[in-house]
Amino acid sequence: MKHYGYDGLAVLVSERGHYSLKKAADVLGIGRDCLIAIPTDDNNRIRTDLLEEKISALKAQNIKPFAIVGVAGTTETGNIDPLNTLADIAEREGCHFHVDAAWGGASLMSNNQRHKLAGIERADSVTIDAHKQLYIPMGAGMVIFKDPTLASAIEHHAEYILRKGSKDLGSHTLEGSRSGMAMLLYAALNIISRKGYEMLIDQSVDKAAHFAALIKARENFELVTEPELCLLTYRYVPEDVKKALDVASEEDRETILDLLNDLTEFVQKRQRESGHSFVSRTRLTPEKWNRKISSVFRVVLANPLTTHEILENVLSEQEEIVKTSEIALPKLREIASRILTEAAA
Ligand SMILES: Cc1ncc(COP(=O)(O)O)c(C=O)c1O
Repeated sequence: MKHYGYDGLAVLVSERGHYSLKKAADVLGIGRDCLIAIPTDDNNRIRTDLLEEKISALKAQNIKPFAIVGVAGTTETGNIDPLNTLADIAEREGCHFHVDAAWGGASLMSNNQRHKLAGIERADSVTIDAHKQLYIPMGAGMVIFKDPTLASAIEHHAEYILRKGSKDLGSHTLEGSRSGMAMLLYAALNIISRKGYEMLIDQSVDKAAHFAALIKARENFELVTEPELCLLTYRYVPEDVKKALDVASEEDRETILDLLNDLTEFVQKRQRESGHSFVSRTRLTPEKWNRKISSVFRVVLANPLTTHEILENVLSEQEEIVKTSEIALPKLREIASRILTEAAA
């Protein structure tokens, strides 16, 4: 970059960017500090106003933003960045536009979902994990280039293998010896077909919407992120605690949020141990909770065999497990009762 008159370079992505981008920064040798995280809005989408500000600040320091990464389906919540706006910015700045559609990419197979990824067609490169919603076994991550010759920048040859013109699998990847995962993808695309994938994707999105409705209908649960794809997050918040949170002092709010984190972790671990069902867990920093680190249940509704009844049972089991909490729940109840009594007085 010094040769081109710059003092540094940067890759910009939202704070919800996947950790694999940090690995990529490591491999490129640019250092993780050059991967810059831009805050997101309430829906976990990159704040493009803050992206613009950061780009201006970097340029003022003579640092070249050389790639912007849009996320089409964040790992935690399944939300999609405004890809057209990102494409406009990348175009104006003359930088590479990559879309991480590891989660969302397969939604392009559905005529009913494709509009959600508008702008992805303007990307220079796109990641799609076939082992997610293309339903291929693990290890079928792909990167697709608009200009196929771009990959030749990292091409390798050896005399005993990968000779020039040969189609060896390892010529563009870090691993030399690779399994032929493309065969599985090729077979699945032919057997399941676009129509079949549309059914699979649509049922997962519909099921996530249904689960969101079930969560909202139960007074002791709170939907944390509305599903756009087949992912959503939620947590257990007793109704009286919800009411208390509305009128609590800053200090009480902090205590309640800490206890809710403990309760979420307790329920998640117990449910996993009980072996009937498994709901994953992650941490978010929602605006409405003062960006405090908050533990939430994270659900991916990809399995076509998951029924509405199973989803009801997952919530009922969580309600039962909560009752066995001997520390967090009684403390929450006590604080909520004090706050509500004070508020009524
Ligand atoms: C948004 C996103 N990008 C990239 C990846 C990386 O995928 P892999 O674990 O297959 O390397 C994932 C995987 O979970 C992901 O969710």
